[in-house]
Amino acid sequence: MRYDVVNRDNIQEMVRAFYACVLADELLGPIFTRVLGDDLEQGKWREHLYRLEEFWILLMGGVSSYRGDPTPAHAFIGGLTPESFDRWLTLFKNVVDEHFGEQIAAQFYKKAVIVAAQLRENLGVDDDDL
Ligand code: HEM
Repeated sequence: MRYDVVNRDNIQEMVRAFYACVLADELLGPIFTRVLGDDLEQGKWREHLYRLEEFWILLMGGVSSYRGDPTPAHAFIGGLTPESFDRWLTLFKNVVDEHFGEQIAAQFYKKAVIVAAQLRENLGVDDDDL
C-alpha cells in the first residue's frame, strides 16, 4: 500500500517496517541490538520506535512531542562509519518507497539525507582518525 498522504498511522507503520529491516541487516543489526536489544516489542525498542515516530512527524510538519536533538543519542554508540550511514539511508529509501507515493517518499528521503549529513558532521564520522 503506497500512501499519498502522511499521517501518524502510516508514519508508525513505516518506522516499524524500517527498524525491522535495520535489525535484520548484517551491518546495522548488531549495532542496534547492542544498544536496544533484538525485540521490537520490548521496552527499549518500544520507546525508540515511539521517539522515531514523533521525530518523523515533526520533520514532516505534524504536531509532535519530539523536542530532542538526535546527535547526543548517537555520540557513544560506536560503529558509526560512513558505510553504516550509507546502509541506513539505502534501507530507509527502500522502506519509504514501499510505503509512500513518489513525492512523499522523496520528501522523507531528502530529510533523512540532511539529518544523516548533520550527524556525520557533528559526530566526526568522516574524520580520518576514526
Ligand atoms: C549508522 C546510522 C545510524 C545508527 C547505527 C543509529 C543508531 C541509533 C540508536 C542505537 C539509537 C538509540 C540510542 C539510545 O536510545 O540510546 C538512535 C537514536 C536515534 N536516531 Fe539513529 N542511528 C543512525 C542514523 C540515524 C539517522 C540518519 C537518523 C535521522 C535521519 C537517526 C535518527 C535518530 C533519532 C531521532 C534518535 C532518537 C534520539 C533521541 O533520543 O532523541 N539516526 N539511533
